[in-house]
Parts: sequence; C-alpha cells; structure tokens
Amino acid sequence: MESGAILLYLSLCFLLALLSYILLVRNKRDGKEKTKLPPGSMGWPYIGETLHLYSQDPSVFFANKQKRYGEIFKTYLLGCPCIMLASPEASRLVLTTQAHLFKPTYPKSKESLIGPSALFFHQGDYHARLRKLVQSSLSPEAIRNLVSSIGAVAISALDSWASTHVIRTFTEMKKASFEVGILAIFGHLETHYKHELKKNYSIVDGGYNSFPSKLPGTPYKKALLARKRLSKILNEIICERKEKMTHEKDLLGCLLNFKDDKGEILNEDQIADNIIGVLFAAQDTTASVMTWILKYLYDNPKLLEMVTAEQMAIHMSNNESDSQLTWVQTRNMPVTHKVISETLRMASIISFTFREAVADVEYKGYLIPKGWKVLPLFRNIHHSAEFFTSPQEFNPSRFENPPKPNTFMPFGSGVHACPGNELAKLEMLVMIHHLVTKFRWEVVGSEAGIQYGPFPVPMHGLPARFWRKSTI
Ligand code: HEM
Ligand SMILES: *[C@@H]1O[C@H](CO)[C@@H](O)[C@H](O)[C@H]1NC(C)=O
Ligand SMILES: *[C@@H]1O[C@H](CO)[C@@H](O)[C@H](O)[C@H]1NC(C)=O
Repeated sequence: MESGAILLYLSLCFLLALLSYILLVRNKRDGKEKTKLPPGSMGWPYIGETLHLYSQDPSVFFANKQKRYGEIFKTYLLGCPCIMLASPEASRLVLTTQAHLFKPTYPKSKESLIGPSALFFHQGDYHARLRKLVQSSLSPEAIRNLVSSIGAVAISALDSWASTHVIRTFTEMKKASFEVGILAIFGHLETHYKHELKKNYSIVDGGYNSFPSKLPGTPYKKALLARKRLSKILNEIICERKEKMTHEKDLLGCLLNFKDDKGEILNEDQIADNIIGVLFAAQDTTASVMTWILKYLYDNPKLLEMVTAEQMAIHMSNNESDSQLTWVQTRNMPVTHKVISETLRMASIISFTFREAVADVEYKGYLIPKGWKVLPLFRNIHHSAEFFTSPQEFNPSRFENPPKPNTFMPFGSGVHACPGNELAKLEMLVMIHHLVTKFRWEVVGSEAGIQYGPFPVPMHGLPARFWRKSTI
C-alpha cells in the first residue's frame, strides 16, 4: 500500500522532472550566457544520481565526483538540478559573502510539520530579527546558568541507563537532548506540560522522515495532527506565562518580549513555529554527536583514560560533589574540547546543506543558474587530506592548532550558522563529565557501520551497557 503510493509518486515526479529537464536543456540552448555550467554528469532526471547516492556512502559518492571534476560540479538529486561545492572558498561565497543570493530551501512537507515561520526557512529582515533574538537566548551569558540543570538531566539519564540492560545510546541521548532543549526554551516547565509536549513531539518526530502522504493513518498525517496539538499546548503555556508577567531570559521570554521597529510583536504561530524549530534543530543533532563520542571513546581506551583523568581532577577539586560543576570549569577542559571537535569533524553529522540560487551567479567562470539548488559539502571538506592530514584517523590532537578558515564548519557558517553551538557543546561537556567520572560502558555487538536517519549514527544507534563505577 505504502510502497505502491511511493512508486506512483516516483513515476509522477519522474515525468515532471523529465519535462522540466527537457525545457531546461532547451532554455540553456536558447540562452545567450557566455558562462558555462560547471562540469559533472546529470544522470537521469529525478532518479538522476539519487540512486547512486543512496546505494553508497554519500561521502564516497561526492568524493569520487570531486576527484573527477574538482571543487564545483553539477548533478541531479531528488528531482532537482544541483551544484555541489566542495571547497572552503566556494562554501564561503554561498554561506557568507554572497549569502543574500542563496536562500534556504526545504521540502514543503517538512516546512508544514515544523512550522513555516521557523527562522531557518527565511532570509532577509524577518530572519535577521528572529535570529538575533534566538542567538541572544542561547549565548554563553544566557546559558551559563544552565550548567547545574543540564548536569541533573545528565545524571538522571545515566542512572536510568545503569539500572537497565542494553540500551540504544542514540535513542536515550535523544531523550536527554530534548530535556536540555526544554530547559533552554522554557527554563523551568511544569511536569504535565513537559509530558504532553514530549509525547506529541515524538509523534511529529516519527513522521518527519516518512513519505508525506496526508491519507489518514499514515505517519506523516499523524505527525501533522500531533503538530496541531503542540500549538495548542504551547498556547496554554504562553497564556500562563503572560498572566504571571514574569520577565524570563529564556527563549520563550525573548520571543514574548520581541518588538520590531514598528512596535509589532510576534503572533502565536510565529512563536510556536520557532519553539518547535529550535527543539527540532537541537535534538537529533546533539544526540547523534554524543553517540559518536561514546563510540570513539570506547574504541580508543588511551583517549578515554586522558579524558577521564581530566574530568576526575575537576571532580576531585569539587570534593566529588556532582552539583559543584561550574561554567568556568567547563571552559577549562582542553582534552575533552578536542575530543568533541574531532568527533564533530569525523562524524560530520550535517554532511551538507541546501540553498537555492535566487539569481544567476558566476563563480570562477562557471554559471550557477537561478533556481538551482546549491550544496556546500561540509563533510567532504572535513575529510579532505588537503586540510586535515590522515583525515580518516580519529586524532583529537590535530586541534592543538586551529584549522584553516572555512575548513571546519560543523555548525555551518555565515548568516544561518548554528546559534545553538555553545549550548550543544556545553551539553556534551557536562554529559561527558558525569559519564566518565561515575560510569563505565561497554558497546554491545561488533556490527560496525553507519545508519542514516537522516543524520549518520553508529549502526543500531550504538547498543551499550552502563554501570556505576562504585558498584563494580
Ligand atoms: C552538535 C549539535 C548541533 C549541530 C552539529 C548543529 C549544526 C547546525 C548547522 C550546520 C546549522 C546550519 C544549517 C544551514 O546553514 O543550512 C544549524 C542551524 C541551526 N541550529 Fe544547530 N546544530 C546543533 C545543535 C543545535 C542546538 C542545541 C540548537 C538550539 C538549542 C540549534 C539550533 C539551530 C538553529 C535555530 C539553526 C538555524 C539558524 C538559522 O537559520 O539562522 N542547533 N545547526
Ligand atoms: C498531546 O496533547 C494533547 C493536548 O492537546 C494531550 O491531551 C495529549 O495527552 C498529548 N499526548 C498525546 C500522545 O497525544
Ligand atoms: C572542598 O572541601 C574543602 C575542605 O573541606 C573546602 O575548603 C573546599 O571549599 C571544598 N570545595 C568545594 C568546591 O566545595
């Protein structure tokens, strides 16, 4: 049933793509442009190179093309003509210096699920104003007060894993990063609201990567309905907050206090869309990086020893009290910081991002045509031997020297760069602190490999067992 619908959808898209392909090729022939398109093969439209992409590791797929064509090449992906950019310089053009010529682009189905007013779908004034606000609520000054609450989330998660048998690390890390997202957005939130948000959000999450069919009973339709309920819950929380007239510094407080130059405030949909947007941007990203960190530490006992020594020294200076960890201490964890950076590079969980050219743009004599998708390939840059020696080796000490500009972009770059990067790093530091000082773990099963969902995570979400150190 589901696969029949997908097949029908695919063949429709194929026909449409074929049509637009023919039109496009015609247009190009009629066009008078002197600049030429970048090299590359377009494959068959729609099916295009998508099949090749999904039948092999995407970094290998792009790396092979890069070897053949260089830093800029064209291809067809998911029904769209695309220009791929595999150099720091070209990424900088698209994300920073000429960012106004490249707008964010997401499938409509995903936009409706998160909420069309979420900042990452926008550019220009609306984006800039909202971004400033989100950035300020996630700035180091704003999140330094969260260290002990994040610590409590981490310890309670770790304790619950230690008392069960095998857990899926990624699934459990998602629960923890959701809690931290809630902390950053609402500060303290009543348990019954948190519970309702969690339940309904997990339905949205479950439909996000499913086929966007609005037939009743499909995961996508269920997700849309749960998204409506989320708006309702958020409106109740907002009403309550307004009655209390408190001036909190958390994200909700910032969104409620917002006024633009004309004195206009944000409406309830705009607030809800941005809250769900931040929850969405915060959860799977942080959880997959955390999962990779656990894998890399487990695979590198010497490194785990060094990280443990660094964290034990802090733990001892806090008289082994869990609640004493401070923001200042998290700024002074050089070994752990390098492990996090190297994990961000190796795992490159955001392998690339999408933009769309809003005008014809010329780059080094090549035409990037208006309407084409443009993809800066972060992962290929992070895995290039030109910028990182022995790129396939997990080696945190490489970060003793800062990477060259625009060669290390785990949080993106330019006008849409991740405003949550400090919070994500803080969460990882605090989690690692409590993990290595009080727990040990063992990865279960020897199945290597990567699973895409859509972020890369270790196979099966890294099944593992945890113990409290003192009980062994
Ligand atoms: C390790 C974890 C994370 C990684 C690797 C990550 C990575 C990224 C990247 C690469 C972008 C830019 C996407 C693009 O240019 O198209 C981005 C944007 C964004 N991230 Fe993160 N992120 C992480 C955690 C978080 C957290 C914890 C939050 C919030 C609490 C967050 C909120 C956002 C938002 C709101 C945007 C959109 C910004 C805009 O469009 O102006 N992220 N993130
Ligand atoms: C979702 O939200 C509604 C409130 O709109 C609530 O009654 C319900 O219990 C929540 N949970 C689920 C699983 O739908
Ligand atoms: C640890 O204990 C010592 C001696 O009792 C005390 O002087 C010190 O302030 C304590 N440190 C912390 C961080 O609580």
